[in-house]
Amino acid sequence: MSSATKSDEHIELELTADFTTSESDEAQEAALQDSEDKENYVSPYGKTYTKNMWYFAVAGHKLKRGQTVGKQILDQPVLVGRDRQGNVFAMRDICPHQAVPLSAGHFDGKEVECAFHGWRFDTSGVCTAVPSLCSDQKMNLCGIKTRSYQCREVMGSVWVYIGDSEQAELPEVPHAPGLDGFKLGQTTTTLLLPTHIDYAVAALIDTAHVPYVHTSWWWRSKKALKEKSKKYVPSGTGWTMVKHQPSKHSIVFKLIGQYLETEISFRLPGCRREYITLFDRTIISGITTLTPIDDKHTELNHTTYWTVPGITWLVAPIVGYFVKTFLMQDQTLALLQEQVINKYNPRLIMTIKDAGTPGHWYFMCKKEWNDAYVQGRQFVNPIKEKILRWRT
Ligand code: FES
Ligand SMILES: [Fe+2]
Repeated sequence: MSSATKSDEHIELELTADFTTSESDEAQEAALQDSEDKENYVSPYGKTYTKNMWYFAVAGHKLKRGQTVGKQILDQPVLVGRDRQGNVFAMRDICPHQAVPLSAGHFDGKEVECAFHGWRFDTSGVCTAVPSLCSDQKMNLCGIKTRSYQCREVMGSVWVYIGDSEQAELPEVPHAPGLDGFKLGQTTTTLLLPTHIDYAVAALIDTAHVPYVHTSWWWRSKKALKEKSKKYVPSGTGWTMVKHQPSKHSIVFKLIGQYLETEISFRLPGCRREYITLFDRTIISGITTLTPIDDKHTELNHTTYWTVPGITWLVAPIVGYFVKTFLMQDQTLALLQEQVINKYNPRLIMTIKDAGTPGHWYFMCKKEWNDAYVQGRQFVNPIKEKILRWRT
């Protein structure tokens, strides 16, 4: 990670690419063309994180009352837990006494006890007991504290806010769309990707790899590429590919495709969201989230929701099989990519239009998000409505 300075609060990284948050469609085109042509162009991949943002930490059902789990998020050790009352919390996973991970200690549902000398901390990270003190040895325990993080559970997923928690208004926690008012079943699949989050996002929002990577008898073959044309509009901290009928490449969609519609969207820091409706009623929805572990590893979590919760026993294993098969196909490519990136560190990554345009939009949104924070202003979505065309 070149020219990086790190502190407890932020991970500061330099953005070397010259992407502009252009006003006009033509300017966006020009910036994209520039990124292809400039001889001295430096790839923006792998150099920055989206800061001051919520990151998926763990699926809620994997964190029972009285449990904690040690995670690494954006290079920071974070202890995530659920207390006796069911509330989630997060704190820096380092004991302020002598730097032992608190995740190695014991949590009784109320306080975390360090494994080394038994100091105890409440769920906001404040020390409550130092067992070695004699009765006449007084210490101001309230002054001993490990950093706490904002932590929320939304739609069964636990998110941690990495950044400036003193901000007056924290951003919305990303969540799967189209599910308001439904009773839900859900399952989460977790996968490790060996690359910086930027490469993982690019693959997540890339449509051109689908016929080559996601081939199987039950989904599609790489034969018969067809031209596609989709309308994109700016939304939230990203964009939405507006509602449309899913492609008829797969067996499932061939059979009932004319009654189905899908809407796909992207949100910072790396969330692909999609929901499918049948006769206008949401039947399934999903959110794929990317959480940087460090600058070379990213955790992917895909949570699928369905609106017929009573049949979870049937749906969960089927969904789990399909999702895992898909994600492992992506993971195989990420492993190949990682070998090249780590060995040769190629400077130029080509972004072609229109298939590569969302990849370019991601960098624009990320830059705008980080710039807006530094300048103390609201995020202004830099994406303009656009029709993108590609063959898939
Ligand atoms: S290192 Fe944690 S109590 Fe000493
Ligand atoms: Fe993929």
